[in-house]
Amino acid sequence: MSKKNLFYTLVAILLIGAYALSACAPAAAPAVEEPAAPAAEEPAAEEPMAEEKLGVGIVLPTKDEPRWIQDETRFRDALDAAGYDVEILFSQGDSSLEKSNVEALIAKGVQVIIICPHDSAAAAAAAESARAAGVKVVSYDRLITDTDAVDYYVTFDSIAVGAAQAQYLVDKATGTGNPLYLYAGAATDNNAFLFFEGAWNVLQPKIADGTFVIKNSSEAIALQDNPTLTRDDLGKIIGQVTTDWLFDVAKTKAESHLTVATAADKGDVFILAPNDGTSRAIADAFAADTDVTSYVISGQDAEQASVQYIIDGKQSMTVLKDVRTLVADAISAAIAYLEGGEPPVTNTYNNGVIDVPAKPSAVVSVDKDNVVEAIFDSGYWDPADFTGLE
Ligand code: GAL
Repeated sequence: MSKKNLFYTLVAILLIGAYALSACAPAAAPAVEEPAAPAAEEPAAEEPMAEEKLGVGIVLPTKDEPRWIQDETRFRDALDAAGYDVEILFSQGDSSLEKSNVEALIAKGVQVIIICPHDSAAAAAAAESARAAGVKVVSYDRLITDTDAVDYYVTFDSIAVGAAQAQYLVDKATGTGNPLYLYAGAATDNNAFLFFEGAWNVLQPKIADGTFVIKNSSEAIALQDNPTLTRDDLGKIIGQVTTDWLFDVAKTKAESHLTVATAADKGDVFILAPNDGTSRAIADAFAADTDVTSYVISGQDAEQASVQYIIDGKQSMTVLKDVRTLVADAISAAIAYLEGGEPPVTNTYNNGVIDVPAKPSAVVSVDKDNVVEAIFDSGYWDPADFTGLE
């Protein structure tokens, strides 16, 4: 973690810690007086145990995807660095478990909940129960939609993620008639729509001018003359090429597309894969097909396994979304609320009901040429954990 981020996070955490402790512990002065009766005073010392009275609670979508294990670790790194403990709960891809996680944290007296929804729309109910309890809701990475019970949104520029993925394919393509295979994230995830919209904005002109020919989506082919897609249009395409963010779904879908495709539809192909986990699954499927001569494939999240794939030439690129920044932004938003203030707003996102105040962060396109600088020099991952680095 860079000095600036560590300082930022530590200050943030320390402020939360200070606030939580001052919120929990009774006025200490008499305690000093009280020490005269040592035995009796001891319990007061325990009173400040913030763990019991949590100022902040965190809810993440699932432990079954490396991305969210990464966020849990980055939160712990930031919180432990300041010696503070916050409860982090996982929803295991289940919106009803997500709601009970939120209710458990409310029952523990949190004042702020940082939540990345499994299902953007279904999470509205959990957000509304928090709002009803006077708890602030910070939507983390993914936007909670269809409710006004969201106070703030910290995220990355998801449209820029899709655009970076598509631009990489465009930059590597020459001539016309290049086979293009499209894949998307989960239709329950509002981000999946933003990623695909960003990618389409860059790809559509290159489909229209014949650089690329779509090979695996009749819905996308039907819409290929539309420079911009409506939410419904996006829903039709995503519904057909979704990976549900799951490794196995991505692999099976890629294999079925390759089974249907002719040899002429293969050769040197270009693949829009929505994130790293699905990218490795799809890349493995294409690499195993003898009619595929070469492939250029996108990714997202700079997961360790995909950084290794990029070093090994098995995945072409990923989009670094520096989770340390997202964690720091989420924690400092929580501080602002715990102190009765408001976090900084640099943008808003309409979630179908309100324009949610937000702070989106920039992203970085990473491939073999800048992996050392972007991933290792920045301290994101430790080069000692990778092989094949010159
Ligand atoms: C998205 C998130 C991505 C991604 C995916 C899978 O919402 O922004 O980074 O990995 O979920 O969980």
